[in-house]
Amino acid sequence: MSITRAASIDDLRRLGKKRVPRFAFDFVDGGAEDEVNLAKNRSAFQAIELTPRYLVDVSEPVTETVLFGTSYAVPFGMAPVGFLNMAWPGADLMIARLAAEKRMPHVISTASSTPLEEIAEAAGGHAWFQLYVSGDEAMIGGLLARAEAAGCDVLLVTVDIPQPGKRDRDIRNRLQIPFRPTPGMIADLVAHPRWALGTLRAGAPQFGNFSLDRSGGAPPSLAEIQQRMIAPDFDWNGLKRLRDQWKGKLLVKGILHSQDALMAAEAGCDGIVVSNHGGRQADFAPASIAVLPQIANALAGRIPILLDGGIRRGADIVRAKALGASFVLAGRAFAYGAAAGGDAGVRHAFGLLETELRRTLGQIGRPDFNAVDGSVLAINDRQKPDMRLPAAGA
Ligand SMILES: Cc1cc2nc3c(=O)[nH]c(=O)nc-3n(C[C@H](O)[C@H](O)[C@H](O)COP(=O)(O)O)c2cc1C
Repeated sequence: MSITRAASIDDLRRLGKKRVPRFAFDFVDGGAEDEVNLAKNRSAFQAIELTPRYLVDVSEPVTETVLFGTSYAVPFGMAPVGFLNMAWPGADLMIARLAAEKRMPHVISTASSTPLEEIAEAAGGHAWFQLYVSGDEAMIGGLLARAEAAGCDVLLVTVDIPQPGKRDRDIRNRLQIPFRPTPGMIADLVAHPRWALGTLRAGAPQFGNFSLDRSGGAPPSLAEIQQRMIAPDFDWNGLKRLRDQWKGKLLVKGILHSQDALMAAEAGCDGIVVSNHGGRQADFAPASIAVLPQIANALAGRIPILLDGGIRRGADIVRAKALGASFVLAGRAFAYGAAAGGDAGVRHAFGLLETELRRTLGQIGRPDFNAVDGSVLAINDRQKPDMRLPAAGA
């Protein structure tokens, strides 16, 4: 199948799986442990029905959305994805250029493959920064100063890694960063020459924003790296200190409980990202879309809610808005695009989400995305009662 015939994000995933060595594809595609949470992120979206409404003029759909005083062409953006160049060499800059051209936010990960300054420049004023809070104050201060200087005006503080996630696929594949190929990986690389040569030219996926102390011993496993990047004692007091430190907008990423959402608002956060890290952290956790209604209800519009986890269709963006999110982020949708077809693939992923979003707005008789609220939800006995709540107006 050629990239232009890919009819869905899932088609891009299938194409990407063929073009990318298995250990690299598994890193992007995989989730924690049995991947139940990963699967739930999809099935929970699919269970939410929207009722079609007709005989409304839907000739001019509006997807323009204002968030934190900035107007974006679409109500979705690129989620922070570490080592994104595992999906395809140069993927982070490809998606950043797409963000600039399409006017969507691109959230640069602390663990980005390319230095944050280069990504921010490519994203042309649409770059946000995501921070993992390590125990190293100097490192945090340095990253925040660099992100600010690079023009990132929105900071996402990821809080859902007090312990590193256990990704069974990466353990089986013996994935390590810096990359150290096993004999099995070498055979895999030989079978995928375009990825391998591109990666050879661009340099093996690395930390773009800092270097690891590699003095002596074997390179650390991915889980060990995660452990170094995060401080298990980071708590609400630490968040408040960060709030004082960062002048721009600050969002907490990884909220799944309404009480935590309220505490984030109390701590002076400008928004939250309801997220389970794309099913990569806690396999026992609920789907992020499943907890959104309670959280939206608790916050009652105090601060905007963003959501990620399982966005694969334009209709998912409408479902999230109907349940109380103002904006969504997509991680794998764009990563699969890069894996399937590099630059053309990330464009195709964007095009699919955008056209499906417009089509959905047309089908539900709500041409303006901003006017979507809980009334578009189908009310029937297959939907959980807490999903019937109208949007809280955030
Ligand atoms: C390969 C990969 C790497 C990720 N790295 C980060 C990261 O560095 N920081 C972070 O906050 N979230 C990270 N995430 C989580 C995403 O930001 C986002 O929450 C998740 O991808 C959303 O689910 P989706 O992939 O189904 O869209 C990563 C996700 C993936 C798939």
